[in-house]
Amino acid sequence: MPVSAPDANPFRYGDLALDDAFTDRADELRELKSDILSGQNVVIFAPRRYGKSSLVWKATQELIAADQVLVAQVDLMATPSKEKLAEKLARSIYEDIATPVFRVRERAVAVFRGLRIAPRITLDPDDGSLSFGFEASSRREDIDATLERLLELPAQLAAGRKRVALVFDEFQEILAIDPGLTPLMRSIFQSQAEVAHVYLGSKRSMMERIFSDANEPFWRSAKRTELGLIDPPLFAPFIAGRFRVTGRAIDAEALAAVLVITQGHPYGTQELCYYLWQEVAAGGTAGLDDLDRAVTRVLRSENAHFSRIWEKSASGHRLVLQALAAAPLRQITEEKRRELNLGGDATVRKALRALSDDELVLRDAGGYRIAEPFLAEWIRRQQS
Ligand SMILES: Nc1ncnc2c1ncn2[C@@H]1O[C@H](COP(=O)(O)OP(=O)(O)OP(=O)(O)O)[C@@H](O)[C@H]1O
Ligand SMILES: [Mg+2]
Repeated sequence: MPVSAPDANPFRYGDLALDDAFTDRADELRELKSDILSGQNVVIFAPRRYGKSSLVWKATQELIAADQVLVAQVDLMATPSKEKLAEKLARSIYEDIATPVFRVRERAVAVFRGLRIAPRITLDPDDGSLSFGFEASSRREDIDATLERLLELPAQLAAGRKRVALVFDEFQEILAIDPGLTPLMRSIFQSQAEVAHVYLGSKRSMMERIFSDANEPFWRSAKRTELGLIDPPLFAPFIAGRFRVTGRAIDAEALAAVLVITQGHPYGTQELCYYLWQEVAAGGTAGLDDLDRAVTRVLRSENAHFSRIWEKSASGHRLVLQALAAAPLRQITEEKRRELNLGGDATVRKALRALSDDELVLRDAGGYRIAEPFLAEWIRRQQS
C-alpha cells in the first residue's frame, strides 16, 4: 500500500527513512555526495537515532542511481566474528560491485575463487540471491588473508571503471570482533586513495576512541562530520505535508508544539507524529488536545524502556537526570549544585560523564541535557 493512502500512517520510525519518509538534510547530502565522489574518507558522528544510516543510504542511493559510483556497505551490528564479517563483505561485493561490473553471474562469482578460504556459496531459490559462508574453524592467518583480499577487492574490481565507496555502519563494533582488525584495515585502506571510506557508528565514546586517539590506527584518517537535529522550520512543512497527503491536517499551534517537544529530533518527531496522526480521523485537523493524548501514548509505549533505564541508574545519576529533566544545565556552579541537591563538583562531573558514555545525556550549545526524546517528560511525570 502506498504510504500516502488515506488510512496508512505516513510517519515512520525505527527503520531507515527512505524516499518520501526522508526530509531535509539537503546540505548534508550535498556535502556527503561530493566527499564520496572525491574519494574523501568521512566519519559521521551523531547521537543515536539522528538519521546517520538514513543519510548515508540516501546519498549512496542517489549516487548509484546517477551511475556515478559503486558502493559496498557492511553493517557491523550482529557481526560477532571475522568469518561473519567476511560473509557480509563478500555478499555486498558480489551484489553491489562485481555484479554491476561484470553483469554475468559466473564472472562475478569467479572473483571469489582466489580467496585463501574458499567460501561456501549458496543460492536462494526464492529471489536468486547468493550468500557466502566461511568456515569458522579456519586458522587465524587464513581468515586474515581472506579479509585482506576482500577489503582490496572493491577498489580493484572498479579500477578504471567507476568510483567506489566502502561504507561501514556501526563501525565501533569492529573493536568487539577483534582489536587486531583496525590495524589490518587501516593498512589496506591507506593505499586506496581513490576509494571513499565512510564510517558511521552510534556509540560515540568508542567511535571517538577509534578516530580521535593518536595511538589508534584510524586516528585522523577521515573527515569528521557531525550530524545534528533537523531544523524545526525545515521539519514543519514535511509534517504538514504528510498530514495533507493522507487527507488530514495539523493546526499551526500543534505543529509548533510538536517541534518544541522534539526539537527536531528525527526519530522522536516521527514517533510523536505517528501517534498524533492516529488521533485524527480522515478529514480532521490535529490540535493541542490531540497532541496531549499523543504524548501520553508515546510515553506509555516507551514506559518499559524508560523504566529499565531508571532502574539501572545509580541514585546519584537519578538526581542528575531529574535536574536535567527540569532544565538543561548550562554551568555546574556551586549554587546550582546546592539548589538541586546534586553533591560535590567531582561527583556531578563523574555522573555526567557516565551518563554521556551511556548516551543518555549530551552536551551542546545549550549545556547538558537529556538526549533521549521523551525521557525528560517521562521523568517529570514520575515526580508529579
Ligand atoms: N532525514 C530524515 N527525515 C525524516 N525522518 C528521519 C530522517 N532521518 C531519520 N529519520 C527518522 O529517524 C529514525 C532513525 O533513523 P536512522 O536509523 O537513519 O538513524 P541512526 O542515526 O542511524 O540511528 P542508530 O543510532 O539507531 O543507528 C528513522 O526511522 C526516521 O523515523
Ligand atoms: Mg544507524
